[in-house]
Amino acid sequence: MCGIVGYIGDNPAYEILIKGLHRLEYRGYDSAGVAMVNGKGDLNVYKTRGKVDDLERFCQSKDIEGCVGIAHTRWATHGEPNDVNAHPHISRSGRIALVHNGTIENYGVLKEALELQGCTFQSETDTEVLVKLIEYIKETNDCSLVEAVREALKEVVGAYAIAVIDTEDPDTIIGARKSSPLVIGIGNGETFLASDATPIIEYTDKVVYLNDDEIAIIRRGEPLKIITTDNESAKIDIQTLKLSVSQLEKGGFPHFMLKEIFEQPRTIRDCVRGRIGNTGSAVTLSGVIEHADKFLAARRIIIVACGTSWHAGLIGKRLIEEAARIPVEVAYASEFRYSNPIVTPEDIVIAISQSGETADTLAAIQIARKRGAFVYGVCNVVGSSIARATDSGTYIHVGPEIGVASTKAFTGQVTVLTMLALAIGQLRHTIREEDVAKTVEALRNLPELIKKTLKLNDKIEHLSGIFTYAHNFLYLGRGYNFPSALEGALKLKEISYIHAEGYPAAEMKHGPIALIDRELPTVFIAPNDDLHEKIISNIQQVKARGGAVIAVVTKGDTTIAEIADHIIEIPEVPEAVSPIIVSIPLQLLAYHIAVKKGCNVDMPRNLAKSVTVE
Ligand code: M6R
Repeated sequence: MCGIVGYIGDNPAYEILIKGLHRLEYRGYDSAGVAMVNGKGDLNVYKTRGKVDDLERFCQSKDIEGCVGIAHTRWATHGEPNDVNAHPHISRSGRIALVHNGTIENYGVLKEALELQGCTFQSETDTEVLVKLIEYIKETNDCSLVEAVREALKEVVGAYAIAVIDTEDPDTIIGARKSSPLVIGIGNGETFLASDATPIIEYTDKVVYLNDDEIAIIRRGEPLKIITTDNESAKIDIQTLKLSVSQLEKGGFPHFMLKEIFEQPRTIRDCVRGRIGNTGSAVTLSGVIEHADKFLAARRIIIVACGTSWHAGLIGKRLIEEAARIPVEVAYASEFRYSNPIVTPEDIVIAISQSGETADTLAAIQIARKRGAFVYGVCNVVGSSIARATDSGTYIHVGPEIGVASTKAFTGQVTVLTMLALAIGQLRHTIREEDVAKTVEALRNLPELIKKTLKLNDKIEHLSGIFTYAHNFLYLGRGYNFPSALEGALKLKEISYIHAEGYPAAEMKHGPIALIDRELPTVFIAPNDDLHEKIISNIQQVKARGGAVIAVVTKGDTTIAEIADHIIEIPEVPEAVSPIIVSIPLQLLAYHIAVKKGCNVDMPRNLAKSVTVE
């Protein structure tokens, strides 16, 4: 969480920083701030509670001059969102400013030590402690800014990506990272720094991803220099971005979320491209081919992920167990990391993450690797921390996902997991070729089927108007679509603030059935599958108790049409790919209910897109 941006060059920094903050707002949006050194060498710091728009209003008629600066958009960890806790934070003398993404775990001890030296603190943040520590070291050791940053970081326990400027060294920005991302953009006579590449792409496509424990020394007119916290010089690996500015814009849609829902025919096409052919049943995943020995020898697979990615993992479990006959466990990364997990070198750990930056998933990977497991990543963001921390993996290639509620990343993850299951199954000869062929054919048809399913938009928009009254929703599904129920419920609650619970439909009678009354709508995910008859009984149980039923069914399902209050008809698909198709109406339902309730769907309260703290 939190987004940071930095700029040094010949252009006015303010516009670049603000534009960059807007791009990073998905990472946190409870307060924002900028710090710039102007031509006279003064440090101007402006910060405020609220979104980047509020910061812009705040900066009107202020001195925003300067060609070097840093900026921040915050998701509060230490201290409530307010003007004082907003970043940048400044040192005692007011000469050094710092922005930070991450958490300094030992900030309490460091703060006490600094207080003993006479330091006082205005904010409740861990970040203020760091900037004051840097200045204390700089003054005490009479050293350069970079040396002071390096020494200070040696004292710090926790996660950080930071950017620091100092009026005593106004032509320099220092950046550093440990467990939180930082990308440096190399332009023509100008250098950028940001939490991800989105603020950089319109100025340059040449980037360097900083590694953990590295410090970047960015000096005006000089080539980038990177050292480690042990003061050794580090290799500079300049990469070329494959990202375009249009991918970061709404493209005529009112929200990123809706744009991303409607992008899915294309994103799924991109996801399967080169992995399945136009004909035949071959599934080519280079990660599986290159590590065939690992997949052949695997005794068990453990999937680690959070949130929506965890739901994709639950679907992945069924797909892999079915196709590859390897037992699969699915763990919340946040639980796994603190459970002293039993992991052996015969295990494969699959880490799923859209952002590739989720702190819990990253920590789970580190544990798994330490215990000798082969770690396979399923990520969206190319070059992200998780993509780089894994032994191998498959990108989902769905392009930047900006709406906080994950949509196209979920369908991309499930698509990759389907291909992964097939590829492992083919390798281990545990799946019949005709079954592979059937699923591959379904994957090939997915973009067209999603296109058809998106035509439900108007109907779902109308339906959503009926249910804005609800304070609670139940989502029920079975088999492959139990995780779809969890995901449908998560989508609704995170953007509309309506409480929603996902449950296996047959478990309803063991508790949640007590909740059913006229006030509680239930969404049944009930496409034609092996358990169709069973789910019809579950629907009848709800109807018998006066509950309203919205059922997502396969087109032509007259039985459920007669019982349910509302039906949403999706095209016929094989069971294994049905979670991808059913997720489309569930995303649309959540979206339209939230919009009708006047919620900010792209930036729901308290949430951030990329959860880089514990
Ligand atoms: O980037 P990741 O996939 O690792 O993120 C995991 C969760 O934080 C994420 O899926 C979250 O639950 C979304 N807001 C769901 O829409």
